[in-house]
Amino acid sequence: MIAVIGAGALALLVAVGLLGWAVGHGTAKTTTIALAGASTPSTQVDPAIAGGAHDFVQFACGQCHGDRGRGGVSPDVPALTQVGKSLTTAQLKSIIDHGLGQSANPKKPYMPVWGAVVSRRQVSDLVSYIRAGLPEVPGAVPIEVPSGQGPAVAGAALYQRYGCVNCHGPNGLGGVPNPQSPDKTIPSLSGPDFREEFNTDAKILEMIRSGSVIGRAPIVSMPHWGGIIPAQDYKALLAFLKTLKT
Ligand code: HEC
Ligand code: HEC
Repeated sequence: MIAVIGAGALALLVAVGLLGWAVGHGTAKTTTIALAGASTPSTQVDPAIAGGAHDFVQFACGQCHGDRGRGGVSPDVPALTQVGKSLTTAQLKSIIDHGLGQSANPKKPYMPVWGAVVSRRQVSDLVSYIRAGLPEVPGAVPIEVPSGQGPAVAGAALYQRYGCVNCHGPNGLGGVPNPQSPDKTIPSLSGPDFREEFNTDAKILEMIRSGSVIGRAPIVSMPHWGGIIPAQDYKALLAFLKTLKT
């Protein structure tokens, strides 16, 4: 009896498979086959554009340039909706890799240097996404910040949302390579060295607000977050950092 059911199920699977193959090959332009009852989305997103949209969220581009590059966060940060037309692929790649030149004492947000942190593939996907006009892509949205669960919980989400994790590592453990910098890595935000140097909230806050340029690209520097991160989020970030290794 079990064998009979097994064979029947197998026959059905083969039939469905053949049908799928036939449909897939019979219609040259159709990329998605929506079977009745299946929750397959009816449109597919170009993988490079989708990758770029998710990278845009992961590297917190949207926290400075606005959701899908629509601007509106700070008068010092431009929207990105037109650069796909006005700049070449090579120019866009160079801006993402090298920034746009920072002053040694940043008083305003500057375009960070990403070259040592993002991969070739990610830069190229980001450019595809910008060129496509920064479309809405399912799932490419920043992590939600839990409310009513205390500042440390909110801060852990903000650490992802503002992209701190990309440079300072999970749990503030550091170790992200920054080969041209004096320390060769981006510093950790936990452990004895960090606690000793940054022994007051004020010192940490000052660093996050103003940033710190340690050299020209390709050196990765600490972005200037003043005017970008709202006051209550600083408190949450500080509370999160206090939960990390001492
Ligand atoms: C900390 C804030 C911040 C973050 C994060 C950030 N940018 Fe920028 N970006 C800026 C600022 C400020 C400028 C304008 C700099 C200037 O003109 O000197 C800029 C400029 C640009 C430009 C050139 C725009 C133009 O009109 O010429 C591009 C392209 C760009 N950013 C892409 C990105 C991408 C992609 C990411 C994510 C990988 C990103 N930015 C993350 C602040 C930021
Ligand atoms: C593009 C990479 C990058 C991102 C994103 C970034 N940082 Fe940094 N950060 C750095 C670098 C590089 C330094 C070292 C600066 C120096 O030595 O002057 C630094 C230094 C710091 C320091 C001082 C630690 C030390 O030992 O010098 C703190 C605190 C800090 N960052 C917090 C944050 C927070 C919080 C965020 C997210 C809101 C963040 N950083 C996002 C690159 C980054």
